[in-house]
Amino acid sequence: MAAIDEKRRAAEAALVHVTDGMTLGVGTGSTVDIFIDLLIEKVAADKISIVTVPSSFATGHRLRAAGFRVECLTSISTIPLAIDGADEVDSQLALIKGGGAALLREKILAETAEEFIVIVDQGKLVSKLGVKMPVPVEVIPPALSLSLKRIRELGGTPKVRQAHRKAGPVITDNGNFIVDVTFSEIIDAAQLDCQLISIPGVLETGLFPHQTNAVYVGTDSDIKRLVK
Ligand code: 5RP
Repeated sequence: MAAIDEKRRAAEAALVHVTDGMTLGVGTGSTVDIFIDLLIEKVAADKISIVTVPSSFATGHRLRAAGFRVECLTSISTIPLAIDGADEVDSQLALIKGGGAALLREKILAETAEEFIVIVDQGKLVSKLGVKMPVPVEVIPPALSLSLKRIRELGGTPKVRQAHRKAGPVITDNGNFIVDVTFSEIIDAAQLDCQLISIPGVLETGLFPHQTNAVYVGTDSDIKRLVK
């Protein structure tokens, strides 16, 4: 229950960055879902109009159902702002994302945005990336065996993410698998990101070493704003 209140505080804080007429990137997850609830209220109360660019089918569906204009990433190369959640945030604002298997489009959205703001509850703050969460990696199906071998050679322990209420693996919005990789220690997230992406058939990783501009952290009673 407490985490929900913290997520709401973080989402509220990010809402002030949304202005009339803007094109807004909207990420994926339970914190973003709360943000969308608040966005619906704000747009109605302030009588503003925005265009949205979602990072997943799930978010696009919610935004369309709420009456927002939804553009797909295909036609967008720059947007002023994207807002998303994260699974882990370290003191340098490096992230692990992909708990909702949307990491590929989330990274495209973050790179498309001039400003990338992350909203989290305080349970997401970590001293070192990878301590609580494995690193999700999106892999095209024909590259699965090779990727698992190469990931092991890099010192990782890979596990193909399994679906709930569907037999077999999670299939992403892009038709690929997610491999969750545990590392005993992540010393350099940017270097590890490059090493993983250089495996043929690995499309993207959930490591976001440098994309974040600011993080709003909801706490028990307050909001913290973290910037580099
Ligand atoms: C989805 C993500 C989410 O942003 C991340 O998993 C955080 O989710 P939540 O807000 O539900 O804790 O990266 O791929």
